[in-house]
Amino acid sequence: MILEVKEIHTYYGTSHILFGLSLDINEGEVVCLLGRNGAGKTTTLRSIIGLTVPRSGSILFKGKELIGKPPYRIAPLGIGFVPDDRRIFPDLTVRQNILVARREIKGAIWDLSRVYSLFPKLKDLESHMGNQLSGGEQQMLTIARTLMTNPELLLLDEPGEGLAPLVIKAMEDQLGQIKKLGTTMLICEHNVGLATALSDRAYVMDKGTIRYQGTIEELRKNEEVKKKYLMI
Ligand SMILES: Nc1ncnc2c1ncn2[C@@H]1O[C@H](COP(=O)(O)OP(=O)(O)O)[C@@H](O)[C@H]1O
Ligand SMILES: [Mg+2]
Repeated sequence: MILEVKEIHTYYGTSHILFGLSLDINEGEVVCLLGRNGAGKTTTLRSIIGLTVPRSGSILFKGKELIGKPPYRIAPLGIGFVPDDRRIFPDLTVRQNILVARREIKGAIWDLSRVYSLFPKLKDLESHMGNQLSGGEQQMLTIARTLMTNPELLLLDEPGEGLAPLVIKAMEDQLGQIKKLGTTMLICEHNVGLATALSDRAYVMDKGTIRYQGTIEELRKNEEVKKKYLMI
């Protein structure tokens, strides 16, 4: 197992948001965390990456406890986070945005040329400034930049958010290629189509806790869960 989240309770101030949430991810697996807006998906990712520290519970990454470590110590362990608000640098070029995240490690698979072959559009735009990009291009750039850190576990927060259907299709294909290279992923989505197309397993959460887990096949057949928590 690469990630084991056990019974975490996370708060914003006095607001109790995650209630004993647990989930596991095996190495090489793509797992999605589904749920309506406000269910607690982003808070789960923030808890893992150390941006909002759980008050109790445990989060093991390759057997090491993450709770208590600051984000700048967690990311270099091999966890990449693609936030939902795509924090690219508006005043840097596309190429600079990508290179800024470069992390030289042993066995690194991602470099500029591999990132460009995955996202040819970014190569075409390499001298454009970050603020000249469309939403879809910004999302690609955010993923490209995170890949340059050569993460073993990639956390994606709503990668399809606000993108046109054709762009989502392209994103699905690109994430599929990342999966083929063996990168483990946790994809948070309320866009069930994008997430389930790529994932091996799904967790469904509501009101800060996991309500269902199963394979994508099992979820597809479970009309009750889909109706109750996903509105599909
Ligand atoms: N900074 C914050 N302060 C207080 N409450 C927050 C904050 N961010 C999110 N919340 C609340 O936490 C709950 C879970 O939010 P979030 O994790 O963003 O859900 P999701 O990503 O599934 O839409 C929601 O009720 C939301 O209003
Ligand atoms: Mg969210």
